Amino acid sequence: MPQRAFCFLTATLTYVLALTIAVASGGGGEGVGGPEGPPLQQQQPPPPPLVGAAGYVGSDTCIACHEDQQHGYDNGPHGKAANPRSPAARQGCESCHGPGEKHIDDPSDDTTLRKFAKMAPRDVSGTCLSCHARSSHAAWQGSPHDTRNLSCVTCHSVHEPASPTAHLKISTEVELCATCHRVQASKIKRVSHMPVQEGKMQCSSCHNPHGSTNVKQLRVGNWINESCVSCHTEKRGPFLFEHAAGRESCVSCHDPHGSSNDRLLVAKVPMLCQRCHIGTRHPSTIYDNLSVQNKSARVIGRGCVNCHSQVHGSNHPSGQALIR
Ligand code: HEC
Ligand code: HEC
Ligand code: HEC
Ligand code: HEC
Ligand code: HEC
Ligand code: HEC
Ligand code: HEC
Ligand code: HEC
Ligand code: HEC
Ligand code: HEC
Repeated sequence: MPQRAFCFLTATLTYVLALTIAVASGGGGEGVGGPEGPPLQQQQPPPPPLVGAAGYVGSDTCIACHEDQQHGYDNGPHGKAANPRSPAARQGCESCHGPGEKHIDDPSDDTTLRKFAKMAPRDVSGTCLSCHARSSHAAWQGSPHDTRNLSCVTCHSVHEPASPTAHLKISTEVELCATCHRVQASKIKRVSHMPVQEGKMQCSSCHNPHGSTNVKQLRVGNWINESCVSCHTEKRGPFLFEHAAGRESCVSCHDPHGSSNDRLLVAKVPMLCQRCHIGTRHPSTIYDNLSVQNKSARVIGRGCVNCHSQVHGSNHPSGQALIR
């Protein structure tokens, strides 16, 4: 095992070195690489089939003993040889499992082939990342899921996908996330929620489970509000009169996953406002105007937002109190 790791390291280093030299000499770096092939940043023609070479035996040989594993592979994008980046256009089964010659000599040996069920999470992910390290997967390494020892195959199954898209292990995405994030997945069933339950949105509409540059693995932007206003553009501003609370974070007032209060609010109005505005210039608590005839209008119905309707910010020249 350490020997294999060492070989891999050497191969990687050789590749990096070769690339550096190639780039330095303006050569573009095509055609270099170990058995894994170069990363896919370079668009290049499919490598010639390597059946027989370097211990590769070819997919047909594997399938002769492992017919079951053919299905998920053939039906999915990995088996589509027309795509030059796919395993099928490279070493087939062995693009992921590694050269199989020694495995056939002794199938019970766990070191001669990548048997993913028996590998450390990082090593599993490393295999997938050799092809999937770009764009939405670029931030995987060091992401909360990576650091908590999830691997690609915690959520994905190459051979027995249960979902119609994205090769997920569980038929729907919300159920998949719910296996670990029960609290958030339950909240989407509360009366006030964004249309996740209805299938119009997914957890991944807001989050990127493969990691991101934003907090809480949010897909877009660099702070929470940028994520929200990527859909709710009218709340983006800039406003002549901002509400400092909204500038700080939308989740000061809204629970993104769902709430029992209207409009996903974290508390009912007026209590929501009174979390921060204890003393205002006008009477504002339920203890003001206690007489029956003269109940405070500020606590009835939509309460504060009956008057302060522009609670997200105002562009009116005299909108400083967010009432117009
Ligand atoms: C001659 C038949 C034969 C061929 C050809 C063969 N295998 Fe296997 N393979 C086996 C047997 C038998 C086992 C079970 C070994 C054990 O667990 O003791 C096995 C186990 C495996 C496992 C681990 C299964 C597990 O439960 O973890 C993987 C992965 C695998 N083979 C992949 C391949 C790939 C990829 C190829 C082609 C390069 C291949 N095999 C070719 C017979 C074969
Ligand atoms: C894209 C990478 C990839 C390719 C290509 C691939 N496998 Fe696998 N294989 C995996 C992963 C990951 C697992 C672990 C179980 C899973 O995710 O479904 C696995 C598991 C297996 C197992 C163990 C039994 C099981 O289902 O858990 C066998 C046997 C196997 N693969 C054989 C093959 C054969 C034969 C091919 C070619 C037809 C192939 N694999 C192509 C990634 C791959
Ligand atoms: C040899 C390169 C290669 C390797 C290794 C590889 N993949 Fe892929 N994978 C592809 C290509 C190519 C596609 C097609 C989509 C694309 O072009 O990006 C794809 C598609 C996928 C998809 C999308 C499925 C869909 O239906 O849209 C998933 C999920 C996936 N791979 C998971 C994995 C996992 C998990 C591993 C590691 C066990 C892995 N891949 C290893 C090349 C690879
Ligand atoms: C926590 C669960 C989870 C983990 C861990 C995970 N994925 Fe995904 N993956 C998803 C979900 C959900 C989708 C579908 C939504 C989306 O596109 O983000 C997806 C989509 C994909 C797709 C197809 C869409 C695209 O973005 O190209 C690929 C390829 C993929 N994942 C590869 C990987 C690889 C490689 C790893 C490991 C480095 C990995 N995934 C780890 C949940 C996960
Ligand atoms: C409308 C966008 C949106 C959707 C849809 C969404 N989330 Fe979130 N999620 C957020 C935001 C924003 C935060 C950060 C909240 C905070 O910091 O208080 C968050 C935080 C989280 C956290 C971290 C909790 C914590 O306290 O650190 C988890 C876990 C999570 N979401 C899981 C999910 C799951 C599972 C789903 C699908 C059922 C989902 N989210 C759907 C926006 C969303
Ligand atoms: C196998 C369990 C597992 C699954 C499945 C899973 N997660 Fe996680 N997730 C974790 C763990 C563990 C953490 C780290 C929690 C912590 O550090 O407190 C985490 C953290 C998060 C966070 C918070 C990140 C942060 O910065 O605090 C979000 C958001 C999240 N996951 C979203 C998702 C989404 C969306 C899905 C479904 C596509 C998903 N997770 C599936 C285990 C899982
Ligand atoms: C991917 C797009 C998307 C993102 C990102 C998003 N939302 Fe939404 N949001 C929606 C959709 C769609 C609706 C439903 C609109 C409708 O029913 O007319 C909605 C509805 C709402 C509602 C109104 C609910 C009601 O009862 O009328 C609130 C409040 C809300 N979102 C707040 C947020 C906050 C806060 C964030 C950031 C954490 C956020 N949204 C991020 C798409 C998004
Ligand atoms: C100070 C608390 C507060 C903050 C911060 C806040 N909201 Fe609201 N939001 C509310 C209240 C209260 C309502 C309900 C207004 C009503 O009933 O008329 C609301 C309603 C909404 C609605 C429903 C449609 C509408 O316009 O009435 C959306 C969408 C929304 N907010 C998105 C956001 C986004 C995005 C952010 C962050 C940029 C944000 N909110 C920040 C208090 C807040
Ligand atoms: C998270 C704390 C917080 C919450 C919740 C909150 N606010 Fe504010 N609000 C502020 C801060 C901070 C200011 C800026 C105060 C300042 O500039 O002196 C402000 C300013 C205001 C102003 C303008 C005051 C002025 O003189 O410029 C109004 C009106 C207002 N808020 C109404 C509301 C209403 C109505 C709600 C409930 C829907 C609410 N706020 C909820 C923190 C909050
Ligand atoms: C009947 C309409 C009305 C209702 C209901 C109302 N306000 Fe006001 N509020 C106003 C008006 C008008 C002003 C501007 C007063 C001024 O500029 O002197 C104002 C000013 C404010 C200010 C800024 C001035 C200050 O005192 O610092 C805050 C903060 C505020 N209101 C919070 C609230 C909160 C919290 C509630 C709910 C408990 C609420 N308001 C309910 C009409 C209302």
